[in-house]
Amino acid sequence: MTSIPDVLLNNGQKIPQFGFGVFLVKPEETFAAVTSALASGYRHIDTAEMYGNEKEVGEAVAKSGLDRADVFLTTKLNNDAHRPDDARRAFDRSLSALGTDYVDLFLIHWPLPTRYDGDYVSTWNTLEEFYRDGRARSIGVSNFQAHHLRRLHTESEVPPAVDQIEVNPYLTQDELRQFCGEHQIAVEAWSPLGRGRDLGDPTIDAIARRVGKTPAQVILRWHIDRGDIVFPKSVNAARIRENIDIFDFELSGEDVEAITALNRNQRTGPDPDKFAG
Ligand code: A2P
Repeated sequence: MTSIPDVLLNNGQKIPQFGFGVFLVKPEETFAAVTSALASGYRHIDTAEMYGNEKEVGEAVAKSGLDRADVFLTTKLNNDAHRPDDARRAFDRSLSALGTDYVDLFLIHWPLPTRYDGDYVSTWNTLEEFYRDGRARSIGVSNFQAHHLRRLHTESEVPPAVDQIEVNPYLTQDELRQFCGEHQIAVEAWSPLGRGRDLGDPTIDAIARRVGKTPAQVILRWHIDRGDIVFPKSVNAARIRENIDIFDFELSGEDVEAITALNRNQRTGPDPDKFAG
């Protein structure tokens, strides 16, 4: 059986370092994809109200036969719900869609510095309520840059447990990852395969051939070896199994460095400083 390491968060909670992401998984494909992931050994599912598939995630977890306590569930606050009362309603809505009375991790999806008068701090203070009342076992942020994190650090009490940011071989995010490391904020890498873009890179292909793994497995292992939390998306059962089959090998330090050197600061998603939701 595959053994997935845990990462210890700054509040003492543990998160499986590897999971399943359902960004861009259509609601009608989500039940099958999550069912297949859980059957293949995934125990961490990352969704968001924005993805429109929380209900199907919840149904797949409920019908899997697994205990709720054995599945780590993350969801995120939508961009239209940053004001405190809206955030409270959105959180209730997410719990009800997921069919659970708590989530393991709840995130602000985007900082939206150009909306809500740039006030993501009161939004964060509302997430602190969910953390204190136990309905969110951990809270964190997504797409926050160092300057957004610095502001939370000086203006609020509970530090974010994670920052979920885009990281892939063409966007290695080393500065922000270093900042997070220095502040005990775990990094979660979204779109770890660059939405498939980075799979055709010749350096990655050469490493894959040498170690006898696929390019996707090499990239996912690179994330794990760098210490980030990763949850690739796939709707294909064979690729879902392929992606979790990365715990029987490690990359050499040289291979990790060679992949990190592919950085082009090239995003597949929006720039968090400009994105208005
Ligand atoms: P599919 O869902 O058809 O498998 P990311 O996680 O970086 O957003 O990348 C997701 C994209 O990569 C999806 O288009 C997905 O397609 C594809 N993908 C996921 N796993 C693999 C794999 N092992 N090999 C090739 N493509 C993959």
